[in-house]
Amino acid sequence: MERQMDQEAKRLIQENFSKRFACKSQISARFYDHLFELMPDAKNLFTNDAVVQKEMFATMLATVVRSLDKPELFKSVGQKMAESHARYGVDTRGYGLASTALENALCDVVGDDISPEELAAWKGAIDRLTSLMAPPKSEDT
Ligand code: HEM
Repeated sequence: MERQMDQEAKRLIQENFSKRFACKSQISARFYDHLFELMPDAKNLFTNDAVVQKEMFATMLATVVRSLDKPELFKSVGQKMAESHARYGVDTRGYGLASTALENALCDVVGDDISPEELAAWKGAIDRLTSLMAPPKSEDT
Protein backbone atom coordinates (compact mmCIF):
# COMPACT_ATOMS: atom_id res chain seq x y z
CA MET A 1 0.00 0.00 0.00
CA GLU A 2 1.19 3.49 -0.77
CA ARG A 3 2.79 5.24 2.18
CA GLN A 4 0.50 7.91 3.60
CA MET A 5 1.38 11.05 5.48
CA ASP A 6 -0.62 12.28 8.41
CA GLN A 7 -2.60 15.52 8.21
CA GLU A 8 -0.29 17.31 10.59
CA ALA A 9 2.77 16.59 8.42
CA LYS A 10 1.00 17.90 5.30
CA ARG A 11 -0.17 20.98 7.17
CA LEU A 12 3.35 21.75 8.38
CA ILE A 13 4.77 21.56 4.87
CA GLN A 14 2.00 23.49 3.17
CA GLU A 15 1.74 26.18 5.83
CA ASN A 16 5.47 26.99 5.62
CA PHE A 17 5.91 26.47 1.91
CA SER A 18 5.87 30.13 0.88
CA LYS A 19 8.90 30.69 3.15
CA ARG A 20 10.65 27.64 1.72
CA PHE A 21 9.71 28.55 -1.85
CA ALA A 22 11.32 31.96 -1.39
CA CYS A 23 14.62 30.02 -1.11
CA LYS A 24 13.89 27.71 -4.06
CA SER A 25 16.96 28.66 -6.13
CA GLN A 26 19.33 27.98 -3.25
CA ILE A 27 17.58 24.75 -2.30
CA SER A 28 17.70 23.51 -5.92
CA ALA A 29 21.35 24.51 -6.28
CA ARG A 30 22.31 22.72 -3.05
CA PHE A 31 20.27 19.67 -4.14
CA TYR A 32 22.36 19.28 -7.28
CA ASP A 33 25.60 19.99 -5.38
CA HIS A 34 24.80 17.18 -2.96
CA LEU A 35 23.52 14.83 -5.66
CA PHE A 36 26.71 15.20 -7.72
CA GLU A 37 28.86 14.75 -4.61
CA LEU A 38 27.05 11.52 -3.80
CA MET A 39 26.82 10.36 -7.45
CA PRO A 40 29.60 11.97 -9.47
CA ASP A 41 28.66 10.03 -12.62
CA ALA A 42 25.14 11.45 -12.63
CA LYS A 43 26.51 14.77 -13.86
CA ASN A 44 27.07 13.27 -17.31
CA LEU A 45 23.36 12.52 -17.68
CA PHE A 46 22.38 16.19 -17.63
CA THR A 47 22.28 18.16 -20.87
CA ASN A 48 19.85 20.92 -19.85
CA ASP A 49 21.17 24.33 -18.96
CA ALA A 50 21.84 24.22 -15.18
CA VAL A 51 19.68 27.29 -14.48
CA VAL A 52 16.74 25.80 -16.39
CA GLN A 53 17.18 22.45 -14.66
CA LYS A 54 17.15 24.07 -11.19
CA GLU A 55 14.03 26.02 -12.12
CA MET A 56 12.26 22.81 -13.26
CA PHE A 57 13.27 21.08 -10.04
CA ALA A 58 11.89 23.92 -7.88
CA THR A 59 8.64 23.98 -9.88
CA MET A 60 8.35 20.24 -9.37
CA LEU A 61 8.74 20.66 -5.61
CA ALA A 62 5.94 23.23 -5.61
CA THR A 63 3.70 20.86 -7.59
CA VAL A 64 4.45 18.06 -5.18
CA VAL A 65 3.59 20.22 -2.17
CA ARG A 66 0.32 21.35 -3.77
CA SER A 67 -0.64 17.75 -4.45
CA LEU A 68 0.11 16.36 -0.97
CA ASP A 69 -3.57 16.29 -0.10
CA LYS A 70 -4.69 15.25 -3.60
CA PRO A 71 -3.67 11.58 -3.78
CA GLU A 72 -4.61 11.11 -7.46
CA LEU A 73 -2.62 14.14 -8.56
CA PHE A 74 0.32 13.15 -6.36
CA LYS A 75 0.34 9.69 -7.91
CA SER A 76 0.16 10.98 -11.47
CA VAL A 77 3.00 13.47 -10.87
CA GLY A 78 5.11 10.67 -9.36
CA GLN A 79 4.32 8.35 -12.26
CA LYS A 80 5.24 10.95 -14.90
CA MET A 81 8.53 11.54 -13.14
CA ALA A 82 9.03 7.77 -12.88
CA GLU A 83 8.64 7.46 -16.67
CA SER A 84 11.08 10.23 -17.53
CA HIS A 85 13.61 9.09 -14.95
CA ALA A 86 13.39 5.46 -16.10
CA ARG A 87 14.48 6.78 -19.52
CA TYR A 88 17.43 8.51 -17.84
CA GLY A 89 18.31 5.17 -16.21
CA VAL A 90 17.84 6.27 -12.59
CA ASP A 91 17.66 3.26 -10.26
CA THR A 92 16.56 2.66 -6.65
CA ARG A 93 20.00 3.56 -5.31
CA GLY A 94 19.83 6.89 -7.17
CA TYR A 95 16.52 7.74 -5.52
CA GLY A 96 17.92 6.94 -2.07
CA LEU A 97 20.77 9.33 -2.76
CA ALA A 98 18.39 11.96 -4.14
CA SER A 99 16.33 11.79 -0.93
CA THR A 100 19.48 12.38 1.11
CA ALA A 101 20.57 15.19 -1.22
CA LEU A 102 17.22 16.97 -0.89
CA GLU A 103 17.10 16.60 2.89
CA ASN A 104 20.65 17.94 3.14
CA ALA A 105 19.80 20.83 0.81
CA LEU A 106 16.87 21.83 3.03
CA CYS A 107 19.08 21.67 6.13
CA ASP A 108 21.78 23.78 4.44
CA VAL A 109 19.43 26.52 3.32
CA VAL A 110 16.65 26.70 5.91
CA GLY A 111 18.08 24.51 8.71
CA ASP A 112 18.20 27.36 11.22
CA ASP A 113 14.56 28.18 10.65
CA ILE A 114 12.91 24.78 10.31
CA SER A 115 11.47 22.75 13.21
CA PRO A 116 12.40 19.08 13.62
CA GLU A 117 8.74 18.26 12.98
CA GLU A 118 8.64 20.13 9.66
CA LEU A 119 11.91 18.53 8.60
CA ALA A 120 10.56 15.09 9.47
CA ALA A 121 7.42 15.90 7.45
CA TRP A 122 9.62 16.83 4.46
CA LYS A 123 11.51 13.56 4.80
CA GLY A 124 8.20 11.71 4.68
CA ALA A 125 7.07 13.61 1.59
CA ILE A 126 10.39 13.12 -0.21
CA ASP A 127 10.39 9.39 0.55
CA ARG A 128 6.83 9.16 -0.67
CA LEU A 129 7.71 10.85 -3.96
CA THR A 130 10.90 8.89 -4.57
CA SER A 131 9.15 5.61 -3.75
CA LEU A 132 6.64 6.39 -6.52
CA MET A 133 9.46 7.31 -8.91
CA ALA A 134 11.57 4.22 -8.18
CA PRO A 135 11.19 1.04 -10.21
CA PRO A 136 8.42 -1.03 -8.59
CA LYS A 137 9.38 -3.66 -6.04
CA SER A 138 7.83 -7.03 -6.75
CA GLU A 139 6.24 -7.50 -3.30
CA ASP A 140 4.55 -4.09 -3.19
CA THR A 141 2.50 -1.88 -5.50
C1 HEM B 1 13.91 13.82 -5.54
C2 HEM B 1 14.17 13.23 -6.69
C3 HEM B 1 14.16 13.93 -8.02
C4 HEM B 1 13.35 14.93 -8.49
C5 HEM B 1 12.21 15.63 -7.73
C6 HEM B 1 13.78 15.22 -9.84
C7 HEM B 1 13.21 16.21 -10.64
C8 HEM B 1 13.48 16.39 -11.98
C9 HEM B 1 12.74 17.27 -12.87
C10 HEM B 1 11.56 18.14 -12.48
C11 HEM B 1 13.26 17.13 -14.12
C12 HEM B 1 12.78 17.82 -15.42
C13 HEM B 1 11.55 17.14 -15.97
C14 HEM B 1 11.78 15.72 -16.45
O1 HEM B 1 12.71 15.49 -17.26
O2 HEM B 1 11.03 14.84 -15.99
C15 HEM B 1 14.36 16.18 -14.01
C16 HEM B 1 15.16 15.82 -15.05
C17 HEM B 1 16.23 14.97 -14.93
N1 HEM B 1 16.61 14.29 -13.80
FE1 HEM B 1 15.71 14.32 -12.00
N2 HEM B 1 14.82 14.42 -10.17
C18 HEM B 1 15.10 13.62 -9.10
C19 HEM B 1 16.09 12.66 -9.01
C20 HEM B 1 17.02 12.41 -10.01
C21 HEM B 1 18.16 11.51 -9.89
C22 HEM B 1 18.51 10.68 -8.66
C23 HEM B 1 18.82 11.55 -11.09
C24 HEM B 1 20.07 10.87 -11.58
C25 HEM B 1 20.89 10.22 -10.89
C26 HEM B 1 18.09 12.46 -11.96
C27 HEM B 1 18.42 12.72 -13.25
C28 HEM B 1 17.73 13.54 -14.10
C29 HEM B 1 18.11 13.75 -15.50
C30 HEM B 1 19.28 13.13 -16.23
C31 HEM B 1 17.17 14.66 -16.02
C32 HEM B 1 17.14 15.22 -17.47
C33 HEM B 1 18.11 16.35 -17.52
C34 HEM B 1 18.44 16.81 -18.93
O3 HEM B 1 17.73 16.44 -19.87
O4 HEM B 1 19.43 17.55 -19.03
N3 HEM B 1 17.02 12.97 -11.27
N4 HEM B 1 14.46 15.74 -12.71
